[in-house]
Amino acid sequence: MNPSLNITFIGAGCMASALIRGLITRGGIEPKRITASDVSQERLGLIARDFGIRTETDNVRAAAGADVIVLAVKPQVMDGVLCGLAGALDAGKLVISIAAGITTQFISERLPKGPRIIRVMPNTPALIGEGAACLSAGPNASKDDMALALEIFRSVGTASEVGEHLMDAVTGLSGSGPAYVFLIIEALADAGVKAGLPRKTAQELAVQTLIGSARMVQETGLHPAQLKDQVTSPGGTTIAGMQALEAGGVRAALYDAVDKAAARSRELGRKK
Ligand SMILES: NC(=O)c1ccc[n+]([C@@H]2O[C@H](COP(=O)([O-])OP(=O)(O)OC[C@H]3O[C@@H](n4cnc5c(N)ncnc54)[C@H](OP(=O)(O)O)[C@@H]3O)[C@@H](O)[C@H]2O)c1
Repeated sequence: MNPSLNITFIGAGCMASALIRGLITRGGIEPKRITASDVSQERLGLIARDFGIRTETDNVRAAAGADVIVLAVKPQVMDGVLCGLAGALDAGKLVISIAAGITTQFISERLPKGPRIIRVMPNTPALIGEGAACLSAGPNASKDDMALALEIFRSVGTASEVGEHLMDAVTGLSGSGPAYVFLIIEALADAGVKAGLPRKTAQELAVQTLIGSARMVQETGLHPAQLKDQVTSPGGTTIAGMQALEAGGVRAALYDAVDKAAARSRELGRKK
């Protein structure tokens, strides 16, 4: 990444902190080139202490001099934040929004000076450098802008480009997905306890089984069904467990979870 890039975060919460950590530790950006703005002095104090970056309570002052502005506030306050920044963001700035449900059209309508806009759906494993993000190019964004934005999000995990019409689906799968996986880990650990394992052992086994299986899919490049077939011997224990999962509707429940979360994302987008 260009080390002389100046990046400003509007909103210094959970996702901003994850990205700032990634940019400094993996992106090669010096802390002095990063600014964060927030309404909470307490948050700014913490983030300045943790990363040694510049902080501001005024969004317009924070955005002045930045090449890239990352909008990392909740969707509910985006309208007010954009109106406040409207005069400060022109075609010289790249604006990256990570707010769920907020379209690039919504943003461009509020920024009349025509900055380049990119929309991103990240997820919380970004906090430990294992995020999965999808990015869509909005008005005025060039190929170079997209390449830079991909580089920023690759400093905290994987990142790829999708059409903006797919953003609600991305929200339903990877944006909301960590919660589904936490639930599966919890349930597997509980089931282990029910079968007689100590809680600590059950949780360790549940977590490592998910990590190991996911990495097998990633590293072998095989279809998950092929890997599943390899471990289900005729008349064995695993196929007996599989029968219970199918009878419990796990597959259908996951379809439904992604579907419902995507629908909710569409709904939130319409309410803005
Ligand atoms: N966390 C996730 O899993 C996740 C995943 C994908 C996308 N996102 C998106 O990422 C965005 C940020 O989420 P987050 O989890 O980082 O939220 P967060 O932790 O609540 O951070 C947002 C920060 O913005 C501050 N803020 C509120 N109004 C502001 C204003 N006018 N100017 C400057 N700062 C202001 C908030 O302060 P107060 O708390 O005092 O209001 C808070 O410190 C959201 O739009 C969300 O949709 C989050």
